[in-house]
Amino acid sequence: MPEAERIERLTFESAQVWPQAAETRRGEVALVTAQNLSREYGKVAALKRASLSIFPGDSIALLGTSGSGKSTLLHLLGGLDQPTGGELSWPALGDSADLRPSKVAFVFQAQSLMPPLTALENVALPLLLLGANPEAAKQQAAAVLDTLELSAIAGQLPEELSGGQAQRVAVARALIAKPQLILADEPTGQLDSATAQHLMDVLLAALSPQTALVMATHDETVARRLNTVWRMKDGVLEEHP
Ligand SMILES: Nc1ncnc2c1ncn2[C@@H]1O[C@H](COP(=O)(O)OP(=O)(O)O)[C@@H](O)[C@H]1O
Ligand SMILES: [Mg+2]
Repeated sequence: MPEAERIERLTFESAQVWPQAAETRRGEVALVTAQNLSREYGKVAALKRASLSIFPGDSIALLGTSGSGKSTLLHLLGGLDQPTGGELSWPALGDSADLRPSKVAFVFQAQSLMPPLTALENVALPLLLLGANPEAAKQQAAAVLDTLELSAIAGQLPEELSGGQAQRVAVARALIAKPQLILADEPTGQLDSATAQHLMDVLLAALSPQTALVMATHDETVARRLNTVWRMKDGVLEEHP
């Protein structure tokens, strides 16, 4: 086979298998790894053969326009939804059945707090679901609210909070059980840009160096706050490690 043809062939073949999602990196075990992960809704291919691994300490922006498949991917990574193709596992976290709320936490775009509960009670909820003593859970919730500069609104109901405050409470709730993976779906999507930057400040400051963050956004300015940007378009993860 002529050299040029051989190289072309090798390039083609390696493109078929690249990138292999590695389960380890520099001795660390992936929190989640996916190979050719796909999700179809009827005839709509919402996610097409995504391969990726996420490791402790990663902070990744999933950047793409509306409908590009960001939420679909996040839901799969958090075990909220089942893929229709490919493989998905959580090598460092165990079975998908016991991911939440101690290992994986979500922050959604808006209105995810429980309306009849105060901010403090909303933040304590993950610990209560894990069987914590209610008084201890409330004390821990108060401490997390304090670190996010939210002590003053601890007793307020969600409807009494501004959009930015409500999203910071949602971040506090995501952080309280010290999850290893935080999946945030356009958490700044309904905030003005100054409030969005403040939310990013408190979220990034509160993250432990061992916690990975994956955040869907369509905002380049928000995406640039994270260490890595993966672009999504029409269900395809275009840039990944
Ligand atoms: N539950 C669903 N049923 C049918 N189609 C869906 C559903 N969820 C998402 N889709 C479709 O999948 C594609 C990707 O959606 P989504 O992951 O929500 O994108 P993004 O979060 O980037 O806006 C879109 O075409 C959307 O209409
Ligand atoms: Mg979405």
